[in-house]
Formats: sequence, C-alpha cells, structure tokens
Amino acid sequence: MKTEFALDSNLSGNQKKPWYQRPRIFDQPAGFPELLAATVATLNTAVLHAPCVLASSLSAEDMVLFHLIAREQLPIHTFALDTERLPKATLTLWLDAEAHYGREIERINPVPDRLQALAAAQANSAIFESKTARELCCTVRKTEPLRRTLEGKAAWVTGLRKAQSAGRAQVPHQEWDAGFGLEKFNPLADWTDVALWYFIDRENIPVSKLYDKGYASIGCDPCTRPIRFDEHPRAGRWWWEAAAAANGSATECGIHVTHPSKANAESTQPIIKVTA
Ligand code: ADX
Ligand code: SF4
Repeated sequence: MKTEFALDSNLSGNQKKPWYQRPRIFDQPAGFPELLAATVATLNTAVLHAPCVLASSLSAEDMVLFHLIAREQLPIHTFALDTERLPKATLTLWLDAEAHYGREIERINPVPDRLQALAAAQANSAIFESKTARELCCTVRKTEPLRRTLEGKAAWVTGLRKAQSAGRAQVPHQEWDAGFGLEKFNPLADWTDVALWYFIDRENIPVSKLYDKGYASIGCDPCTRPIRFDEHPRAGRWWWEAAAAANGSATECGIHVTHPSKANAESTQPIIKVTA
C-alpha cells in the first residue's frame, strides 16, 4: 500500500508546477456571519430528527462540523468509517480531535467476514484495474458499514459542499436520503473554500497535516494523492478512473447517491458470492 506521496521539489520544465496549498484567509469573507448562523440553524433543525449522527471522515469540513457540534453542545453523536485503509495522518487526527474536544468519534469497522470474502474475491491491487473491483472494495469497507450505522437513526449530517464538484453543485441543506431511508443534512452546502479555511484558522480547528502536503480532498490511503495547484480539488481521488472517464471528472464512492444504486438498494444482500 502506498503511504504519503513525497512532494517533489526537484522537477524540471513543465513538471515543475507548485503543489496545491490550502488557502490561508485572514479577512472575514463577506456574508460570513450570516452563513455561519444559517449553518448552526441547519444543525439545530437536524437534531429535531433524533437520533441524529455526524458522519466524519476527519476532513476539514467534518472538523468544522465536529467543532460546531461541540461548541453548540448539540446531541449529535459522531462516527467515522475506519475502512482499515485510512492514511496515518487521518488516524493521528482522529485521536487528537477526540482529546482536543473531549468527545468520542466512534470507530466503525467493516465486518471481518466481509473483509475475508473481499480478500478471497480480489487482490488489494484489483481496485486500480477495474471499476467493479474498486466499487466492491468501497461497498464492503464503506457502504455496508455505513448502512449498518445508519439503521435506526432518523438523520445523518455530512460535510458535503456544492463547491466540491460539479456533481455536488445541487447539494441541498436537507434532503430525504432514499438510499439509506433517513433525513440527510448538509449544513456546509453553501460554504466556499475561502469560508471553510477562514473559519478553521479563526477558530484554531485541528485539521489533517495532509492539507499542507498537497492534498485537497482526503479519503483512503491507496485512493488519495496530492494534486498540483491548478488541478481540480477532487483530482486526487480515484484519479485513474477520472482519467479514463469520458469527461475526466472525479468519481464518487457510492455513499452519496441521491438515487439508490443497486448495491445500496440491496442492503442486506451479500454482494460477494463466497463459495466453500
Ligand atoms: S467520498 O464519497 O468522496 O468518499 P468525501 O470524502 O468527499 O466523500 O466526504 C464527503 C462526506 O462523506 C464527508 O464530509 C463525510 O460526511 C462523509 N464521509 C466520507 N468518508 C467517510 C468516512 N470514512 N467516515 C464517515 N463519513 C465519511
Ligand atoms: Fe477501498 Fe479505495 Fe474505496 Fe477505500 S476508497 S474503500 S481503499 S476502493
């Protein structure tokens, strides 16, 4: 498995492009107090749907939400899906964030039997060779554990933002999640990168060290890489698939589908056939 990419300062010619650097914003963006007030209002609406949980990938967005939930003392339990493929920096931040806020981030692991079945069905490297294999890995390590966690919950909160990608441009503050069967709240839907990083620095919110190493969007270690400053923020996620896609756009792992995919709809059906 790859570990963090080394940032190469010895490239030449066209290769010598600076890496992405997360914004440092010192002046309050126009309209920020109203944006923050609307975000807190959305979180307060979310808690009316109890039990309500925050799905945190320990991303910058999710750290902002974790911070607001702690600050406003909202009854929203936080969990993170430990795919067992997370970067070291994410695992470090996990412990740091729990200590900093004195609040637990519940660890949700894939079911061991399903991991065994996955390992029997395909090699780890298969995710780079076929989209089906990659989706299978995401299903076993993310979607199935997420479905299990959301069972019995009335609402979940995510860090989705419209600005993250064209595919997320219509993300609403609140929606019915038909795939998982509960309300879904996206309180940061309207947050720009500028608003996000302004607030993080203003409030000293702990974030992953990877944002200072060229990473703009962070998921599992094998499927995340740093980007150049002029690449799309999600270009570091499943980049080999994006390169192969007709429009070159970054893809999704399947936990944020508005209309349930086949894998999502078949909640309890094992999708890997395990033969004795
Ligand atoms: S992904 O679908 O491409 O992986 P992304 O990394 O942008 O999603 O994260 C979007 C939101 O999905 C996060 O803000 C978080 O709410 C949720 N999410 C993604 N990965 C995880 C995870 N490992 N554990 C819990 N929630 C997650
Ligand atoms: Fe597997 Fe990559 Fe999906 Fe993580 S993001 S679950 S490693 S395919």
